[in-house]
Amino acid sequence: MSTNRTFTMIKPDAVEKGHIGAILDKITASGFKIVAMKMTQMSLRDASEFYAVHKERPFFGELVSFMTRGPIVAAVLEKENAVEDFRTLIGSTNPAQAAEGTLRKLFATSVGENAVHGSDSDENAEIESQFHFAGREIF
Ligand code: CMP
Repeated sequence: MSTNRTFTMIKPDAVEKGHIGAILDKITASGFKIVAMKMTQMSLRDASEFYAVHKERPFFGELVSFMTRGPIVAAVLEKENAVEDFRTLIGSTNPAQAAEGTLRKLFATSVGENAVHGSDSDENAEIESQFHFAGREIF
């Protein structure tokens, strides 16, 4: 995968509140092209594997429970400097610290239920995209 790609999830809180359309609109209006997308629900096993890097953290159980409680929208996005630009668009992990206009400022309610995921490196973007999508589902 090109380094001009990143991986995102619209998390269960934002899906429950009906924010899928508004979030996708902001993403595409910010210059990202959607090259893969699906609505899906992670199993406990999926979420434990996806977030394995956090398994020793005190919030791991809460994180897995939250991410499996309903559907998510997973997508691969393409743009020059995608990983960094998308992290800027989503804002700080804690929405209380997120800049005005960022997705987390607009749509998130807490550090745990923070509406949108964005990969933190090109390497993780590739790993996370392959976790959710088969090669033939990425365009
Ligand atoms: P994200 O950065 O997408 O991936 C890791 C997630 O762990 C993060 O979003 C939050 O949803 C969650 N997280 C991080 N810190 C905390 C915390 N202190 N309490 C609860 N959840 C957290």
